[in-house]
Amino acid sequence: MTWRWPSLLAVLVLVLSGLEVSRAQDARTAAGQGEAAGVPYPEGFRRWAHVKTGLSGSAGPGGARYAGFHHIYANAAALEGYETGRFPDGAVLVFDVFDVRTQDGNTLEGPRKFTDVMHKDSRRYAATGGWGFEEFEGPSRARVLSPEVVARCFACHERLAPSGHVISKLRE
Ligand code: HEC
Repeated sequence: MTWRWPSLLAVLVLVLSGLEVSRAQDARTAAGQGEAAGVPYPEGFRRWAHVKTGLSGSAGPGGARYAGFHHIYANAAALEGYETGRFPDGAVLVFDVFDVRTQDGNTLEGPRKFTDVMHKDSRRYAATGGWGFEEFEGPSRARVLSPEVVARCFACHERLAPSGHVISKLRE
């Protein structure tokens, strides 16, 4: 009978280490929403409501990375948020950034640089005000955000828009 104890112990160790691994994965999911919880690519956003357009220089707070045109889009749920001040779960906002080029004295859009997304899911993204933040490289759509960068997105959005985290206003 005694030979059974070492093998029972081995099973116990395996079960406990399995629990440890899954707990570590849960922690990563909570912290690194970019990869693990996966803000989805906003398919079809070019057919959503256009909120506004801006033109940033490289001296702005976003530096050279954000220099260029940005267009903001809102899905139907996000549009409701702009109107009521409360963004429901399922609201998605897109910040689509393009290089600038000049041609024949005109200032035009260059290639797409990247697409920033805010996706409202108050349970999944509870740690960042209910918003999931992600950045998709253009044109590959590769996800680029690390948990550290997500924290920076959130910090700025929280500072500039303390109640709803959404900074832009819907213009007529
Ligand atoms: C330095 C501050 C700052 C940081 C950091 C920042 N943003 Fe923003 N973001 C802004 C400002 C300002 C606007 C509004 C621009 C306008 O009105 O034209 C904005 C707008 C947006 C919008 C449109 C909705 C809204 O709030 O108006 C999205 C989506 C967005 N940002 C995503 C992101 C993501 C994703 C990150 C991280 C990669 C990020 N932002 C980091 C300042 C910031």
